[in-house]
Order: sequence, then C-alpha cells, then structure tokens
Amino acid sequence: MRNVNFEDYRLEDGVLWLDGPQSRARLEAYEGGYWRLLIWHRPEDEKKGSWVVDAPPRVAATLERSAGGLALRAAGAEIRVRLKPFALFWEGLEFADLQVGEQPTWTTDAAAVAEALVGGTALREAEDGYPLAGGYAIHLLEREGRRYFGLGERTGFLDKKGRRWLNWTADSPEQQPGDDPLYQAHPFLIAFDEGRVRGLYLDESWKSSFDLAFREAGRSRIAVEGPTFDLWLLPGPEPAALLERYTALVGRPWLPPLWALGYHQCRWSYPDEQSVEGLIEGFKRHEIPLSAVWLDIDYMDGYRVFTFSPYRFPDPPRLVRRLAAEGVRVVTIVDPGVKKEAGYPVYESGRKIDAFVKNRREEELVGEVWPRPAVWPDFSRSEVRRWWGEQHRALLEAGVAGIWNDMNEPAAFAVEGDETFGVGKTLPADARHGARLHAEVHNLYGLLMSRATHEGLRRLREGRRPFVLSRSGFAGIQRYAWVWTGDNSSYWEHMAMSVPMLLNLGLSGVAFCGADIGGFRGDASGELLTRWTWLGALYPFMRNHSAKTSRRQEPWAFGEPWLGYIRQAIRFRYQLQPYLYTLAEEAARSGQPLMRPLFYHFPDDPEAAGVYDQFMLGPDLLAAPALRPGQQRRLVYLPAGRWYDFWTGEAEAGPGWLVAPTPLDRVPLWLREGRALPLSAGRPAKSAHWDPLVWRLTPSDRLEGQVYTDDGDGYGPGERLKLTGRFDGKRLLVSQEPLTEAEVLIELVGAAEPRAASGPVSFRRGVLRLPLRGGEAWVEW
Ligand code: GLC
Repeated sequence: MRNVNFEDYRLEDGVLWLDGPQSRARLEAYEGGYWRLLIWHRPEDEKKGSWVVDAPPRVAATLERSAGGLALRAAGAEIRVRLKPFALFWEGLEFADLQVGEQPTWTTDAAAVAEALVGGTALREAEDGYPLAGGYAIHLLEREGRRYFGLGERTGFLDKKGRRWLNWTADSPEQQPGDDPLYQAHPFLIAFDEGRVRGLYLDESWKSSFDLAFREAGRSRIAVEGPTFDLWLLPGPEPAALLERYTALVGRPWLPPLWALGYHQCRWSYPDEQSVEGLIEGFKRHEIPLSAVWLDIDYMDGYRVFTFSPYRFPDPPRLVRRLAAEGVRVVTIVDPGVKKEAGYPVYESGRKIDAFVKNRREEELVGEVWPRPAVWPDFSRSEVRRWWGEQHRALLEAGVAGIWNDMNEPAAFAVEGDETFGVGKTLPADARHGARLHAEVHNLYGLLMSRATHEGLRRLREGRRPFVLSRSGFAGIQRYAWVWTGDNSSYWEHMAMSVPMLLNLGLSGVAFCGADIGGFRGDASGELLTRWTWLGALYPFMRNHSAKTSRRQEPWAFGEPWLGYIRQAIRFRYQLQPYLYTLAEEAARSGQPLMRPLFYHFPDDPEAAGVYDQFMLGPDLLAAPALRPGQQRRLVYLPAGRWYDFWTGEAEAGPGWLVAPTPLDRVPLWLREGRALPLSAGRPAKSAHWDPLVWRLTPSDRLEGQVYTDDGDGYGPGERLKLTGRFDGKRLLVSQEPLTEAEVLIELVGAAEPRAASGPVSFRRGVLRLPLRGGEAWVEW
C-alpha cells in the first residue's frame, strides 16, 4: 500500500492533468455542476468508457494557483486541489490520503489472478480488504453531525454511517439484519450536512467498499479493487436536485404500464393451471382487486428457461386469455442459468454464438443453479444480449405481460472445480467474459441481464411499455428494471427494515422498488400480513410473495378479521393510483423516488433527518406505519406546517411529535396543507384517463394539485390536469384545468358542514363530497 502524491500538473483543454510517480489523474468539469476525478496507474489502464454513465457535455475549467494549491473553476463551481500530499476540497468535503495497492488484482494473467483472488468466493470472504490488495482508496475527512444515505439496498437504518459497506452483488437467501452485501451494488453515496446534500458516485464495477467512519471515527474510506478510480462529484444542495443530477448520469426509469402499479400476487409456486385458476377464483370470491399473477420457477419444463411445462401448463395462451378477461396479467420468472443439454434450443442457439461465460481455461464454465448442469450467458456482450432478448418471443407469444429476472447476482449452487455445494455462491472471479474477468463484470451481471430483457421486450412488443423486475442490479438498474429486495422473512423486523431499505434504494435512483409483502421465508400471521399489506400499499411495487416452505399468505389465508383489513388495504392501493401514476411520471422524467425520507422535503429540519420509520409518498403524503405486533399507537413526527389526518381530517400543527392511534383498518397518513391529492375509485382502472377522478383536499388559503393522465400503456401523449383553489375562511373555490369528460369529485377533509355549495353535497365523518362541474366547484360556510 503506497500513498499517492502528484508532482506535476497541467491544464489542457480545460482539464486538469496530474502526474505522480505512482499514478496519473484527471479532473474534469461537466455541464450541470459535476466534477469527475479519474485516477489510474499504467498507461494501458486509462479508462475509455463507462458501463452506465451518460456523460453530459464537458466544460472547460480555469485554473488559478494559490498558496494552498490549485483552484479549478467551471460554471460557477469551484474545487481545490493540493498536489502533495494529495487532497481535494469540494463543497465542504475534504478528500485526502490517496492510496494505491501493491499488487494489482486486475491483471488478466490467469495464474496471478487465481493467486490474488483465490477463487470467486474469496473475494467475498476476504472482504475486509485492509490493506488493499490492488486498486485505490481515498479518505474523506469526517465532520460532526454528518449523515450518509444512498448506497442502494442495505440492511440497517436510514443513516449508513458507522459501518463498512461492500459493493459486491450477492445472493442472500437467509437475510439477517446485519448482512452485507445483498443483491444490489450501488456505489452512490449521499453526504448530508446541515440540510445540504452532495453525491459521490464511484463509477467502477469492480468490487468496492465504502467505510463510513467505521474503522476510524475521524475519516471514511472509499476503495476499489480495480485498475482505475473514477469518482463523480454531484452537487445538491437539495435532495431533489441531486437525484435529478444523479439520474441524468446513470439513467431514469421508464414510465411503467399502469397495471404494474396495482397489486401483485406471487408464490413459489402456483405450479399448474388449476392452482392459478383457483387463485383468481379466490380474488373474485373475496372481492379483492388484482393486477397480476406471478409464475415462479415451477411453470417451466424442468427449469429450462423460456419453456412451459407441457403437463402443468398445457395451454398458456388460453390461461392468459382467461385471466385477461378478469383484468389480470401474467408475469413469469426468467433466471440466467441455462440448462446445458444437447438438443435444448436455448442452449444450442446460445452455443452457436458462443454466448456463455468461460472458465479460466477458456472452456464453457459449468455449474448448477435450478437447472443441472447449467451455463451462464455473458450479458456483457451486445450480441448475447440481443440473442437473449429474442428468446422472450416464446413467452410473449403466450401473452406474458412482464418478466421477472432472478438469481442474477449471478447466484450458483455449485461451480465446477469448487467442491462445496450450497447457496450464496457466485462464479469464480477469474471466469471469462470475452477478454474481461468476472471480477470486473460480476456487479454488472444483473444490470446487463435486465438490459437484455428490457431491450428484448421493447423490440418484440412495439407500442407497449416494458415491465421487468430484477433482484440484482448496479447503479442505473432503474433504466431497465424495477427492483425487489429478495428473500426477506416473515419477521416484524424485516417489515420495519424494508422502510429504510426502500428509502435508500429510492435515494440511489431506484424509484420503483418493493419488499415481499408478508415476508418470503418463514410463516406470516394475520396481523403481520395486515400491517405489511397496509405498508405495502405505499411501496412503489406492491407484491405479496412467499416461499415453498412457508405457510400460505394470500390475502384470505388467515380469515377474518384480517381478510377485511387486507381487502381494504388493497382497495386503498387502487384508490391511490392517480397519485402513484403522477409520481411515476415524475420519476421517469426527473428521477425522483416515490417513497422519500422526511429530510427529502424538509432538509433544514434536523429532527426530520433522524426519522427512519416514517416516510413521504411524493410531496403530499406523510406515512407512519405500525411496525410492531400488538401496536395500538405510535409516535409520529410532523415537520413544519399543517397536516391533516387523511382518514379523519383532524388538523395537526408541526413541527412536533404526536401520539397517533394505529388501528388495523388503515395506515396512519397525513395530507399536507395546501395540497390536492388525486384519487380514484378503489378498483383497477383500464386506463389513466381517471374516471371518476377524486380530488382530496384540505381547507387552505391556496390549493394546488396535479394528476398525470394518458392511456396507461404505450407511447401516446399524456397531460397533466391541474387543480387550483382558494379559501378565504368562508368560501372555498376550486377549479380544474383542462377539463375532461370524466366525472370529477371534490373531497374536503377537516371541514365543517357547509351553508351552501355549487352542487349536491354529502357530508360523512368529517369528509365533505361534491361534484366539480364545468371545471369549477365552490362551498360556503
Ligand atoms: C429465489 C428468489 C425467490 C424465488 C425463488 C424461486 O429465492 O429470491 O423470490 O421465489 O428463488 O425461484
């Protein structure tokens, strides 16, 4: 391990070049306020491209020498550099003590790699990595009170400080509260000081780690085991601006088809046609709306991807049609492991294009996952992605509406040459993806598989929006897929942990994510499933899923009273659809997450920054779910402003804490003053031309709300309808623009019975309802 300093510098085309005995570096400025620090060692390692970054145009920086070092300026922003000992000062962050490892792990010499990595699993076990075997590390000096967020999918609480987090995608079949890493790798960190955020994105797919004041309280450490160190610095200062910048760099989600925002039912497995039909009957009988049924691995013929079992699913198109008549879609799982079997068309056609990952001897790497034996497509090559995309034709022709990509860390149960068998394995770090090592491609495997799927769906189904769910992913996964958090258990702790986990995923650009409702492993109870379904009604992705070995947990599994509460929660989800869809459109346009921590909207409130078990759904709703068994009430923090209980209309003034009751028939929810929330009837809508459209609002001097409307799928035009209103203490006047054909209703919460109104009024339990006609409605007290 050697410290890196620089001796020479020069400014060339507005880029600062640094030269030292052990490293070279470049500091570049980009339109939008980004800086990029790129360090490398050997001339042949100089980085040419990126797997995920869409760089904005570069801007020329100007240079000024001062006593302390160099000051670089571009587009009003400044960064200061000290050459020796190397340090960087930017937006109140101070980077220093740059180190380079002695022995590079990135050499392509097979013997040296084997020695350095000792097989694929060693990368994970030797995770401590001190001192760095090869690669770079840089330190970030700590400041009191700083918090850290982001880093994708992690166990623990919202603030990630105080631990070391590894970026190395891993199958985690028996997730425990302290486990790390999980399935996703997002080397994106948000540093939060006194209401200000900045982002650090390490654009390296090699194994990397973020030690956040763990080893040493006074400093954090960002390290990568690769040949370059490529760090993007992203200014805020507000969370929304940072997310917009980050997702401009790594990508934004597609606007999903409307049905994807509904309720999904899954189980490992609904193994045959009869069980699927029985399931649909259950939903009908219990009057519970449903958007999609998910088929897990047992629909396949002997775990051969892109096939249906001819015995258990003799006529998939017929089944899909029957379900479609009930408004229900089918989503099928597709794992990357391809059965190695002579005569199996997917294997044979893959072999023809030399599609599979190789071992270090350049032969097809063979292992086991669900299929035995199995080989893995090399998604790092575009022709392989294209071939994989093509394979979806069989499923799409049967009418499948979306694809679920699993086991793409990639997970393996056994790999040739490794005597042990078990879950949690992956491919050896020295496996070959063309000229690249698995060590470089590993973290990208899920991202590139999802890309192949997403692009395949777009090609094969023109005019329909793709829908892909992925377990593994890297920075930018949202461009191709939604994410769920993998194999949790039916623990109250896992339900509680899903809140900060999903919030940090959202802060890492993954706007559409969810956890398995009811828990995947273990046995749920009626109460747990009730609470989790209410919480899940606010997840961007709402799916109930459970493992083969666990108790059934369909909405009716526990009988009454739970069934009634769960039905209400699912219907509530459908009521929220206009709001969710409007947020979804915002996510697609500007990368904003749907679920947001309180500090997202209240960055200057230090109390809000510490809250991890409440969240905002968009800017208008604040949720404080019940997360404990037997819970009767809970503490709720309301930031500054007036808040109206969504259910009772009762007004509260923030900032401050209150004790709120937590009955089983709702999730505690507050509507922000001045906001009009678009809702619909609590059933699936055929399109996003909301009919009826219900504006739920609170009495405030000024009111505002928006709803996005379009066909709900395809690429036709969309528009935003706006509701505005004024209230002078006596008279409330609201108007909507533009007008549509749909029936529009106003629901006013927290109002007294009125004296007169523009139309027929109903008044029940603190909620006043009246129609909006000709674009206007008024009420007088
Ligand atoms: C993995 C997935 C899980 C799925 C199972 C069988 O454990 O995480 O969701 O049900 O595999 O395919």
